[in-house]
Amino acid sequence: MKKLFIIANWKSNKTASEAKEWLQEFQISNVKSQISNKEIIICPPFTLLPILKSSIINLKSPVKLGAQDISPFDEGAYTGEVNGRQIKEFADYVIIGHSERRTHLKETDEILVRKVEMARKYSLTPIFCVQGESTSVPSGIEIVAYEPVFAIGSGNPDTPENANTVSDSIKQKTQVQYVLYGGSVTSQNVSQFSQQPHIDGVLVGGASLDADEFAKIIQNA
Ligand code: PGA
Repeated sequence: MKKLFIIANWKSNKTASEAKEWLQEFQISNVKSQISNKEIIICPPFTLLPILKSSIINLKSPVKLGAQDISPFDEGAYTGEVNGRQIKEFADYVIIGHSERRTHLKETDEILVRKVEMARKYSLTPIFCVQGESTSVPSGIEIVAYEPVFAIGSGNPDTPENANTVSDSIKQKTQVQYVLYGGSVTSQNVSQFSQQPHIDGVLVGGASLDADEFAKIIQNA
């Protein structure tokens, strides 16, 4: 059985009490699911990492945590930034290169390379997002998420066959070990993606905000 990464990207959503409620509901819904080959990673906003970390420990939940961003700088005088050393206290993964940050925050390839370096320095595994096969992937990346812009939040996912072809070609052109698909994944369509030979999991935005739906995504994957 191949390893599957099922990742929730909460984007800029949820308060502390909503996050705790989500985790409790998720534990109840997810109790029956077989997660032995599945790595479940929740990527909440920074403000929720500490509270989720302690809830995960209390509930003995198998989920891991990831951040949605990382400072391109180390510790120091960088107002508003959250650096790798701070993130590592709570999380093991970090999303880098999401198209929403490339577009709204004008993140360039150069900045993304610095973020990857910072992630590596603090032993955080980058989940590096690409928008197509031509997006450049910094060297040493193990996990890439292929997320075509048209599919994000649109209810219009890529075809599983095309996502598989793109994933295959990313693996052939780079040293990347796992390629995930992201963009309008739901409990209804997840298996079509996860069954593709070159797709190793999914990055889920909107559908991950509901604990029950996210548990179904894990069960159906
Ligand atoms: P979506 O977002 O599942 O809401 O399409 C995916 C993502 O942007 O990671």
